[in-house]
Amino acid sequence: MEYKVKIKGTGMFVPEKILTNTDLSKMVETNDEWIFDRTGIRERRISNTEGGEFPSDMAYNATLDALKDANLEPNDIDMILFGSVTPDYKLPNTAVVLQQKLGITNHCASLDIAAACSGFVYGINMAQAMIKTGMMKNILVVGSEMLSREVNWEDRGTCILFGDGCGVSIIGRNEDADESDILSVHLGADGTGSEFFDQPIGGAIHPITTDHLENRTHFMQMKGREMFKVATRTLAQNARTVLEKANLKLEDVDWLVPHQANIRIIETTGKLLGIDPEKVIINIDKYANTSAATVPMAFHEAIKDGRIKRGDIVLFDAFGAGLTTGATLLRY
Ligand code: UT7
Repeated sequence: MEYKVKIKGTGMFVPEKILTNTDLSKMVETNDEWIFDRTGIRERRISNTEGGEFPSDMAYNATLDALKDANLEPNDIDMILFGSVTPDYKLPNTAVVLQQKLGITNHCASLDIAAACSGFVYGINMAQAMIKTGMMKNILVVGSEMLSREVNWEDRGTCILFGDGCGVSIIGRNEDADESDILSVHLGADGTGSEFFDQPIGGAIHPITTDHLENRTHFMQMKGREMFKVATRTLAQNARTVLEKANLKLEDVDWLVPHQANIRIIETTGKLLGIDPEKVIINIDKYANTSAATVPMAFHEAIKDGRIKRGDIVLFDAFGAGLTTGATLLRY
């Protein structure tokens, strides 16, 4: 027996502080025009380092909204999958921290997913498999990032691109008389491109030393052009893969919710696919690239403003460091 799967509720949270391109131009040699033309970004949110806006806090706030939306209680959650490359701590994992903050007492399985910008889509695709088979009933899938901590604020090639924020979805067994379901999924990774976007310092092989701190080599580093090329190819191919698996055509898709890394990546992908730009959800101008959080935040916003409606066919499409990638085709 296979169960139908439904996204029952969504939520998001972004920090209060806004950092505009003009603010950035006072920190590094850049300007609003360059950033907006090359990336589509106008501003991003930055977490308060005094507390209250760390990845687990943002996820807590976003989850409260998602629970209300889904009409569920914290103890209805059977599992937490927490997509993040900026966890609260190395140990314990942030899913467990979130479990405690939510007051969940059912000892639900709680796991972090370090798949970078694909983390949320990895989570949704893994969750749907466990729900379809009946192993789990409701899974909280989170994408929550505080990238402001890992960005080198002296490197204009990367610091202009990223922001902080969180989006969540509660995905569960569909017991309603409707057609909501996950139609097809795709996950993959290509480790040969791992050096295009990495942060090798600070792990078991290279613990952080004072040298790293002085030379600022412990931050994320990226080869932007290489990432750009792989991204457009991968996103377009992902979309074709999930459509083929579900035996659907591009015209059947009501909404494409792509990872928000760069407006030009999104537009190029759209052109490669031949999708109507009106069907593509974009919010990179307000939040920049929030890694695992971009897809669930864009999805949530488009539901709340009335664009995405129940019954619509939605395509999540993501890629990121690793290089990881994933797509989900669903009837909302
Ligand atoms: O989430 C997944 C990870 N992220 C991505 O996949 C991002 C993919 N890559 C990109 O979005 C783009 O490659 C960037 C936005 C990072 C860079 O855009 P680009 O069009 O590839 O620019 P570029 O790196 O080729 O640099 C073009 C010029 C260079 O000057 P010269 O050598 O032509 O004189 C840079 O030094 O722009 C200069 N530049 C800047 N100028 C003003 C680079 N960064 C900046 C800046 N402000 N912030």
